[in-house]
Amino acid sequence: MNKPFVVSLFALLMVASYGAPGSTMYRELDILGKLENLDVPEDEIDDDVTFFDFSSFTSQYSGKNLVNVDSFGAAGDGVADDTQAFIGAWTMACSATNSVLLVPQGRRYLVNATKFDGPCQEKLIIQIDGTIVAPDEPSEWDPKFQRVWLQFSKLQGTVFQGNGVIDGSGTKWWAASCKKNKSNPCVGAPTALTIYSSSNVYVRGITIRNSQQMHLIIARSNTVRISRVMVTSPGDSPNTDGIHITASTDVVVQDSKISTGDDCVSIVNGSSKIKMKRLYCGPGHGISIGSLGQGHSTGTVSAVVLDTAYLKNTTNGLRIKTWQGGNGYVKGVRFENVKMQDVANPIIIDQFYCDSPSTCQNQTSAVHISEIMYRNITGTTKSSKAIKFACSDAVPCNHIVLNNVNLEGNDGKVEAYCNSAEGFGYGMVHPSADCLYSHDDKGLDQTRQYVAEAVVVGEETDQNAHDEL
Ligand SMILES: *[C@@H]1O[C@H](CO)[C@@H](O)[C@H](O)[C@H]1NC(C)=O
Ligand SMILES: *[C@@H]1O[C@H](CO)[C@@H](O)[C@H](O)[C@H]1NC(C)=O
Ligand SMILES: *[C@@H]1O[C@H](CO)[C@@H](O)[C@H](O)[C@H]1NC(C)=O
Ligand SMILES: *[C@@H]1O[C@H](CO)[C@@H](O)[C@H](O)[C@H]1NC(C)=O
Ligand SMILES: *[C@@H]1O[C@H](CO)[C@@H](O)[C@H](O)[C@H]1NC(C)=O
Ligand SMILES: *[C@@H]1O[C@H](CO)[C@@H](O)[C@H](O)[C@H]1NC(C)=O
Repeated sequence: MNKPFVVSLFALLMVASYGAPGSTMYRELDILGKLENLDVPEDEIDDDVTFFDFSSFTSQYSGKNLVNVDSFGAAGDGVADDTQAFIGAWTMACSATNSVLLVPQGRRYLVNATKFDGPCQEKLIIQIDGTIVAPDEPSEWDPKFQRVWLQFSKLQGTVFQGNGVIDGSGTKWWAASCKKNKSNPCVGAPTALTIYSSSNVYVRGITIRNSQQMHLIIARSNTVRISRVMVTSPGDSPNTDGIHITASTDVVVQDSKISTGDDCVSIVNGSSKIKMKRLYCGPGHGISIGSLGQGHSTGTVSAVVLDTAYLKNTTNGLRIKTWQGGNGYVKGVRFENVKMQDVANPIIIDQFYCDSPSTCQNQTSAVHISEIMYRNITGTTKSSKAIKFACSDAVPCNHIVLNNVNLEGNDGKVEAYCNSAEGFGYGMVHPSADCLYSHDDKGLDQTRQYVAEAVVVGEETDQNAHDEL
């Protein structure tokens, strides 16, 4: 570790935090320090749950209360309706401590739209080793459950795990979407798995595929850990977001692979402290914050970190999208260590997002976007605009920082586009982000120069100097 660099930058950050307010230089370094140190702790699940070996799970199950859906009359043949068996098993498992609700492997359970409500007793495990499949006919779907297939709410300390599959049988839903056929009505379709109003929930190992619409929604929840989850749907399935996070805090998504027809991960209003680590995305629309601000609404998202991702053949890479006329903010985001291949818009802020059949007019208000860092982002782009910061004239983006970005075009020239975007780059930035404007005083130039020098020193000896700060 290069001590002089770390110490001097640290000293400056201290000055920045406590001294000389009003100076742009200190303010910029303060923000930079904040962005560099932004973090959400990863999975810290109880050992007894994490490492419990369910492959050798027999009647001798170390004090666990095993609740097998088969004992409640589930047929598991993929044809008979097993909804009542699941509701019965849920009621039993939820009401006793240390329960394991087991969906056995090698079988297929047809389950209708159902809300599984807590609160439950402590230490509930939902062990999905078999396949849960949805009825495939939209016209027979219970209209009371228009937006949900399997919804779990008011859980605390619950673990969903196993090698099983949740299959939304979405084909007919996709065909009925107005995105597929303009003469279809635009109505929402169910989400395969929704975790609502819950805390300390873990989702690990399971596969969610072919959802009617979104695959996994985390809503109004806090402290959720998602790991080794696989989402698969065709690249042309409409609105099939992989993992959608709304009104939730302290959520970590890690070691997961998402292939779908919409955003791999989307983070929307009321969410903060979101971390994504080691993700694979593609096909899909990339990793998105937003959309926010639709219909003049207020949207807020803060403290988001993406660390290590591979995006392949996606229509966007790292995207922030907001509608004209909204309010609120996106503040404190760091995207780092991302490799892209054949991505159409690798780095994009789009404040003119308009996912509607009619065009959207520009407005005088917008969601304010600030403190966004892109670091160590490399790969290839399908479009020439590798970097696009399309910010509102009325509400410019600020404090956008680029560091060690290298995006190459598949067919030659790449460029950056900016509208009303303030910030700076340091280290290598290709294509050059000179279109970012800086504050009119010279404080920012000093910051940029200082950071550039400090980083050169840091990198000569140790690339990890930043991580150790
Ligand atoms: C599911 O619910 C719908 C509507 O209530 C009902 O018509 C149908 O028979 C149920 N079962 C299956 C397997 O679709
Ligand atoms: C679109 O939907 C209309 C009405 O449901 C139908 O008549 C038409 O054949 C559909 N078009 C395509 C291309 O599927
Ligand atoms: C990229 O994704 C699109 C949309 O899913 C798909 O049609 C196409 O075949 C993919 N291309 C490659 C090279 O995988
Ligand atoms: C946005 O989130 C906040 C806080 O969770 C909530 O109060 C507000 O109603 C949400 N706005 C919209 C448009 O959903
Ligand atoms: C940059 O990101 C890649 C992953 O895309 C990672 O393998 C590499 O170690 C990172 N480099 C640094 C200096 O952190
Ligand atoms: C909105 O503003 C942007 C940036 O100034 C401009 O490029 C775009 O054409 C405007 N859109 C409309 C619909 O006026």
